[in-house]
Amino acid sequence: MCQHQETGFLISPIMGFLSKFGFLILFVLSCTSFTSTEAYDPVDPTGNITIKWDIMSWTPDGYVAVVTVFNFQKYRHIQAPGWQLGWTWAKKEVIWSMLGGQATEQGDCSKFKATIPHCCNKKPTIVDLLPGTPYNQQIANCCKGGVVSSWLQDPANAASSFQLSVGQAGTTNKTVRVPKNFTLKAPGPGYTCGPAKIVKPTKFISADKRRVTQALMTWNVTCMYSQFLAQKTPTCCVSLSSFYNSTIVPCPTCSCGCQNNNTKSGHCIDPDAPHLASVVSNLATNNLTPLVQCTRHMCPIRVHWHVKLNYKEYWRVKVTITNFNYNMNYSQWNLVAQHPNFDNLTQIFSFNYKSLTPYGDINDTALLWGVKFYNDLLMEAGPSGNVQSELLFQKDAETFTFEKGWAFPRRIYFNGDNCVMPPPDAYPWLPNSGLRQLISPLKLIMTGLCAFAFLYGYA
Ligand SMILES: *[C@@H]1O[C@H](CO)[C@@H](O)[C@H](O)[C@H]1NC(C)=O
Ligand SMILES: *[C@@H]1O[C@H](CO)[C@@H](O)[C@H](O)[C@H]1NC(C)=O
Ligand SMILES: *[C@@H]1O[C@H](CO)[C@@H](O)[C@H](O)[C@H]1NC(C)=O
Ligand SMILES: *[C@@H]1O[C@H](CO)[C@@H](O)[C@H](O)[C@H]1NC(C)=O
Ligand SMILES: *[C@@H]1O[C@H](CO)[C@@H](O)[C@H](O)[C@H]1NC(C)=O
Ligand SMILES: *[C@@H]1O[C@H](CO)[C@@H](O)[C@H](O)[C@H]1NC(C)=O
Ligand SMILES: *[C@@H]1O[C@H](CO)[C@@H](O)[C@H](O)[C@H]1NC(C)=O
Ligand SMILES: *[C@@H]1O[C@H](CO)[C@@H](O)[C@H](O)[C@H]1NC(C)=O
Ligand SMILES: *[C@@H]1O[C@H](CO)[C@@H](O)[C@H](O)[C@H]1NC(C)=O
Repeated sequence: MCQHQETGFLISPIMGFLSKFGFLILFVLSCTSFTSTEAYDPVDPTGNITIKWDIMSWTPDGYVAVVTVFNFQKYRHIQAPGWQLGWTWAKKEVIWSMLGGQATEQGDCSKFKATIPHCCNKKPTIVDLLPGTPYNQQIANCCKGGVVSSWLQDPANAASSFQLSVGQAGTTNKTVRVPKNFTLKAPGPGYTCGPAKIVKPTKFISADKRRVTQALMTWNVTCMYSQFLAQKTPTCCVSLSSFYNSTIVPCPTCSCGCQNNNTKSGHCIDPDAPHLASVVSNLATNNLTPLVQCTRHMCPIRVHWHVKLNYKEYWRVKVTITNFNYNMNYSQWNLVAQHPNFDNLTQIFSFNYKSLTPYGDINDTALLWGVKFYNDLLMEAGPSGNVQSELLFQKDAETFTFEKGWAFPRRIYFNGDNCVMPPPDAYPWLPNSGLRQLISPLKLIMTGLCAFAFLYGYA
């Protein structure tokens, strides 16, 4: 920071300044650290997964409930191998039977003689059934292997349900105890669930809309995502290029990890290796830990943004998503991109599009995803491991420019994970654009503070 001034000249004013304005610095620091934790998602501030239990009937020793997992997140979906829902029973409840889902472990049911329950665990873990389950074990919204769409991408498939018959439980709305300590893996860590809250019983409207029935009792649990909790290393990176400069700005080196020198460790796979096919085919499919092709960025996913053409009133961008992961076919992938010109997106080819903030003041964020049965499956690393689209934007003469990297995206998320961008000063330059001054907000603040300290000390 203040390198242009001599140190001795500055020390005393800064000390005086610190004693009087230390709180201000603390405030500034706390603001910046808050924005960097990503706990608050500006694109989807109320995004959450809500789990709703509806008691549909009482049984001699308990109740039958339908549990529905609603994904109210605009762009984060639950991909294979799907969700895992857990909780702790408040008393000695058991699960007699289930439809549309199953407990992963039966637990110790040795106390039961005549009929054996489905699960006697104090802390059951439930998973969805797989597609192709016999009809007599299904209920509506079940049996998709735990895969749930994001709310904007496909609202009709943004929920997943199962039914369970609970025994050794209360049999009235006064004696039922709600389960505690809900946990959700969707898949893997990242979600924190609040306590179950008893809410107004859900009303069900019949298909012909002529009769309304209601649950006997309903409770809701809300789970929120935090990238900090998921503690994932980045999973994607962004590279840039343009028609006006032949430089291709690659993903930053080590965006998602660094190449291990020891080739035997198997941290990445050389695509030219002689036994590639046999190495890859020995792996478990759709494993959550990626097995990436060796690259400088080591990311499973790269998003390339190419500024392709410039017309009088329009300009065109080509977006390419490349899969470097041998372990994963990304089903129902999605991309969130932020650019100020998304308010004037005129045409998009071969991807679906929805504005993420259609009613906000700023309409600059887009959700893009593949066309069903055409490119909604991003294949594993290899020759067909990529999908492409072109975007046509209408220019606004006042804001449009190729200078200072304006034509490049501000942020990109792939499947809900923030992608690593190249540093702004590496963006392709416009030829003869002269001196470019990119001033970061922090630099601006520090320069301001230095100037302030200087004035204060000598006033
Ligand atoms: C969860 O999402 C729904 C739908 O967007 C919203 O109505 C609700 O307020 C959210 N809940 C929380 C606790 O944010
Ligand atoms: C339980 O049921 C009674 C009527 O049967 C109702 O008045 C009461 O509000 C219900 N309580 C809860 C928590 O749903
Ligand atoms: C629920 O979780 C809290 C905090 O993690 C713990 O203190 C409590 O014992 C747990 N309750 C049960 C019934 O497991
Ligand atoms: C409970 O969840 C359902 C479904 O997600 C929702 O419609 C309802 O508004 C929620 N109730 C409360 C009080 O949050
Ligand atoms: C191994 O690592 C060293 C230092 O980290 C580096 O100089 C060298 O190029 C690396 N070798 C390979 C094959 O990546
Ligand atoms: C991806 O899909 C293709 C075609 O359905 C299949 O051959 C391949 O084994 C899948 N790969 C993984 C990692 O699941
Ligand atoms: C945002 O963009 C979408 C799609 O182009 C459009 O339908 C919507 O009206 C826009 N909203 C605002 C506030 O400009
Ligand atoms: C979008 O286009 C309209 C006219 O078509 C223009 O008034 C508006 O300023 C444009 N917005 C941007 C950000 O280019
Ligand atoms: C292209 O952009 C790079 C920065 O990424 C810059 O170093 C180079 O000078 C530019 N080329 C031209 C012809 O302006």
